[in-house]
Amino acid sequence: MPPVNRIADFAEDMKGWRRWMHQNPELQFDCHNTAAFVVERLREFGITDIHQGIAKTGVVAIIEGRGDGPTVGLRADMDALPIEEATGADHASQTPGKMHACGHDGHTTMLLGAARYLAETRRFKGRVALIFQPAEEGGGGAGVMVEEGIMQRFDIGEVYAMHNKPGLPVGHFQIRPGPMMAAVDTFEIYINGQGGHGAMPHQTRDPIVAATGIVQAIQTIVSRNHYTLDELVVSVTQIHTGSADNIIPEEAYICGTVRTFDKAVQQMVMDRMEAIVAGQAASYGVEARLDYQQGYPATVNHADQTAFAADTARAVSGDAFVNDTCNPTMGAEDFSYMLEARPGAYINIGQGESAGLHHPAYDFNDDIAPIGASFFAQLVERSQPVS
Ligand code: NI
Repeated sequence: MPPVNRIADFAEDMKGWRRWMHQNPELQFDCHNTAAFVVERLREFGITDIHQGIAKTGVVAIIEGRGDGPTVGLRADMDALPIEEATGADHASQTPGKMHACGHDGHTTMLLGAARYLAETRRFKGRVALIFQPAEEGGGGAGVMVEEGIMQRFDIGEVYAMHNKPGLPVGHFQIRPGPMMAAVDTFEIYINGQGGHGAMPHQTRDPIVAATGIVQAIQTIVSRNHYTLDELVVSVTQIHTGSADNIIPEEAYICGTVRTFDKAVQQMVMDRMEAIVAGQAASYGVEARLDYQQGYPATVNHADQTAFAADTARAVSGDAFVNDTCNPTMGAEDFSYMLEARPGAYINIGQGESAGLHHPAYDFNDDIAPIGASFFAQLVERSQPVS
């Protein structure tokens, strides 16, 4: 079954919506105009059950199907990035320093396309909850919507989301059960020694030697404390200290990133880092403080919903175009909070050759909007069929 014909009919409308959003990017929780645009479209489609102001600018809208049944949640992100656009497109960002460089304008468009079709046809039981969230790119808008109770309030049983993927051919889908994207944590280490003359190190407690000791010892978390076949990255990415060739500084600063798929591994890293920082500091006679910040959790797909999403993608694009055993990636995604709250799945849709995500030359491929919208619509019609 190809993309739904009725959805293909309004591909031009979808392109128009997408390009309007592309010209009008908004950051983090400040998606006021985007949310207003979404609500206007939903009203045009005859949808009246619309709830605004969730997680500041998030929107949840309900489409009633025919007869009793569960509620399936479909999520799109609406926010852009603080990047100066370099596409040179006619529909380029009209706001300097902000652009849709991750295709969230396209994700919102695909969910609107599905909404229009589902509101028009209503060939499903139960209900659909359309979830438009702000602040995916920092801020964790999905987590805030979950904290504000959308799952209970709208009685959502399962949740699905989709992200475009540059380099994956148009019409192709990628998914896997279990970990799909990593948890992203940040650590900062503040070292306090005693500065002095570079020629008289015995009168100092050198924070540089302590910092390099800590950086070396941190490498052993992956190489010595961790089971080789599980995924884990620990990278030190910054060291700042010093001001001259003949001065031993007073302080040093280290920071870096940790990527995990498993909460037990994440806990092990936190415990080991705490012990290493304390032990190394004691051995070098300096004081050191670790500030470990947990970011978005790992995006973990549920097995049954993943199998169902893969089947639905096959129904839209054909067997040969769906890879249901793709590799996980070390990037992150705040849809993870929704997958911690409800069973569901996150899928990638190919957008063909283009600049990469978060690149100033990136632009969402409008050709994939009818395919993505068909996927969302079919997900609903196949999971909650009218008899
Ligand atoms: Ni994104």
